[in-house]
Amino acid sequence: MTDLETQLTTLEQAAQQTISDAADLDQLEQHRIQFLGKRGQLSQILKGMGKLDAADRPRIGAIANQVKEAVQSCLEQKRSDLQNEQIQARLASETLDVTMPGTYTSQGHVHPLNGMIDLALDVFVGLGYTVARGPEMESDYYNFQALNTPPDHPARDMADTFYLPDGNLLRTHTSSVQIRYMEEHDPPIRIVAPGRCYRRDTEDATHAAVFHQIELLAIDKGLTFTDLRGTIKVFLERMFGDVPIRFRASYFPFTEPSAEVDVQWKGRWLEVLGCGMVDPNVLKAVGYDPEVYTGFAAGFGVERFAMVLHQIDDIRRLYTSDLRFLKQF
Ligand code: DAH
Repeated sequence: MTDLETQLTTLEQAAQQTISDAADLDQLEQHRIQFLGKRGQLSQILKGMGKLDAADRPRIGAIANQVKEAVQSCLEQKRSDLQNEQIQARLASETLDVTMPGTYTSQGHVHPLNGMIDLALDVFVGLGYTVARGPEMESDYYNFQALNTPPDHPARDMADTFYLPDGNLLRTHTSSVQIRYMEEHDPPIRIVAPGRCYRRDTEDATHAAVFHQIELLAIDKGLTFTDLRGTIKVFLERMFGDVPIRFRASYFPFTEPSAEVDVQWKGRWLEVLGCGMVDPNVLKAVGYDPEVYTGFAAGFGVERFAMVLHQIDDIRRLYTSDLRFLKQF
């Protein structure tokens, strides 16, 4: 074996070892230059070719070529290995684990009073009623006078409220929406009006100075107390199930006749709403002819319904924003 042959074999082995140890593509490039570059080790060895016997040259030339190709393919192999490793490393570091549980953020939910309002409105919308709303700050006219309750009327005593410096007041009931709606619309009318109401009440387990009502109004030709009773019965059945109900004669300035309705709930009669046939004076106040149109109205407290249905013992729980309480609904 010639000296050159030995050098070539040694180079091949050294190159293979070095290349396979390359840590990254930069190092690999350094090794390529080191072994196969213009001034690299292979070129250095081949410079000795001139000194060879002519007979040896082709053989050594062939060996040199084999070594070059071997080193080249070794470089290629290592390059593709390193590139693969790089891709795998990137994939690993950028992997998105779609099975990982998300970050939990509490969703919150509807307040029991709003839930109650939604439930009631759903029933009436199902019966063909439209949802109407009115302002919480009212004039004496809409809250009392147009509802057949003149300034000296005794019924005002039960509904003292907050008066504003300009003579307006905070509405004591949603009945004021009846007047506002009838002023703007011609019969037939079927509305349901939810909203906040105010009274100068001392707070206790069953009274709040700020509370919610839902008002009902239907005006048409030929509406009778039977229509009122049927409507109320359907509504209460949807809210309480098939429980006994009773109508008790009562008095409201804006209805004649008037009634209060009780449901039998857990062995007791519970008063749940007021209602009646709209008083002719109310129809006159909005310019309707009471000889042509009749109608019925009803109003009930949202808190009362929520307390009965959810067995809440104190109305104030509904306003304290205590999540331990609210989360139960
Ligand atoms: N506005 C009455 C109240 O606050 C409730 C009421 C009773 C409304 C009879 C009505 C009704 O529409 O017809 O106590």
